[in-house]
Amino acid sequence: MKTQVCIIGGGPSGLLLSQLLHLKGIENIVLERQNREYVLTRIRAGVLEQGFAELLREAQCGERMDREGELHHGFYIAHDGRLDRIDLHQHSGGRSVMVYGQTELTRDLYEGRDRLKGQVIHNAEDVQPHDLKSAHPYVTYRLGDEVVRIDCDYIVGADGFHGVSRRSIPKTVLKEFEKIYPFGWLGVLSRTKPVSPELIYARHARGFALCSLRSQVLSRYYIQVPLSDSVEQWSDDDFWVELKRRLPDEVSQRLVTGASIEKSIAPLRSFVAEPMRYGNLFLAGDAAHIVPPTGARGLNTAGSDIYYLYHAMVAQYHRGDSSGLDLYSQKALARAWKAQRFSWWLTTMLHTFPEALEYDQRLQDTDLSYLFSSEAAMRSLAENYVGLPF
Ligand code: APR
Ligand code: PHB
Repeated sequence: MKTQVCIIGGGPSGLLLSQLLHLKGIENIVLERQNREYVLTRIRAGVLEQGFAELLREAQCGERMDREGELHHGFYIAHDGRLDRIDLHQHSGGRSVMVYGQTELTRDLYEGRDRLKGQVIHNAEDVQPHDLKSAHPYVTYRLGDEVVRIDCDYIVGADGFHGVSRRSIPKTVLKEFEKIYPFGWLGVLSRTKPVSPELIYARHARGFALCSLRSQVLSRYYIQVPLSDSVEQWSDDDFWVELKRRLPDEVSQRLVTGASIEKSIAPLRSFVAEPMRYGNLFLAGDAAHIVPPTGARGLNTAGSDIYYLYHAMVAQYHRGDSSGLDLYSQKALARAWKAQRFSWWLTTMLHTFPEALEYDQRLQDTDLSYLFSSEAAMRSLAENYVGLPF
């Protein structure tokens, strides 16, 4: 088989790039290890920067998002028993975020690939990139007993944190940066009316909590838990009791509880791999970087990788201009590190750290009081949350 761009990974990063390139006449094939149903069972974040939403529309996959998603102009921070609102619209020069579940947008991207008859190969096993430094790289994979070879010009590693692509860059070249947080998030999805029309990020002595939503009948809640916790330890009732203890009374009194339709614990980590290019292999999305979910930057940082790669490949194939590809790693990392900073800052300000010094706790208190006392601090938070320019 031969194509121009071979994309490893059929998650949001790989599918979005595949759709955008196809619309510009650039041939590509997506190799996905799992089947489609498995990919679509993943419950992930739900806040899209304006730039990501615009990319989805450009990929002709934004209709349902515009119909069913919710534009949010602000969110709340709950602390010391009260709610304070962050007016994103006012402090970001009129911008906002789109609340729309990643599972739904991944479904929309699959449907977009189907409409264009895009090539997404599922159950591709033992995917392996080859000859990355040559002008003729190729990828092999196994379907059952058959080994298939795809010759291509470029390989995009959109295969997530546990994928094969990052591991294909020699250890003498790759540099990894990591920070592990001493806690995780226990998340619950429930078919209940959301407790608040806008998200609530709660800072509390018992631990962080987040009230989010997928629609007006589907709520998403999280509480910070120790890394030693397992999801089996948490009954639905225990979860609701703990969540209420971390919210201001005016909120917990109106919380509608119900059975969890999904319940899981995710550890929090910050991670960046450099460089994001090796020869004709380009890393994108979770394959290259991971952020704690606090700032909702994971999918949005994948979005800027895809934006840069998409425009670089169009310049290369349509105009023979390789400058975008040559600058990809530098540009993608510059924005990815700003997302790292913002995610780390918000996580540090809002969570309780078991080993924290009292001095550190005072700094957290001060960070919060500075935020609500400074127009500049509010503008900084808002411009990062709605999304820095690509
Ligand atoms: N071969 C083929 N496919 C693979 C391989 C492999 N060796 N390893 C992983 N994959 C697939 C996974 O099954 C998954 O469907 O690559 C896809 C990677 O998707 P994601 O992990 O969702 O990563 P990405 O597309 O970059 O999306 C980033 O997803 O994890 C969230 O918080 C993250 O919101 C962010 C978004
Ligand atoms: C979610 O809805 O899953 C969500 C929202 C905002 C975050 C993290 C997760 O910061």
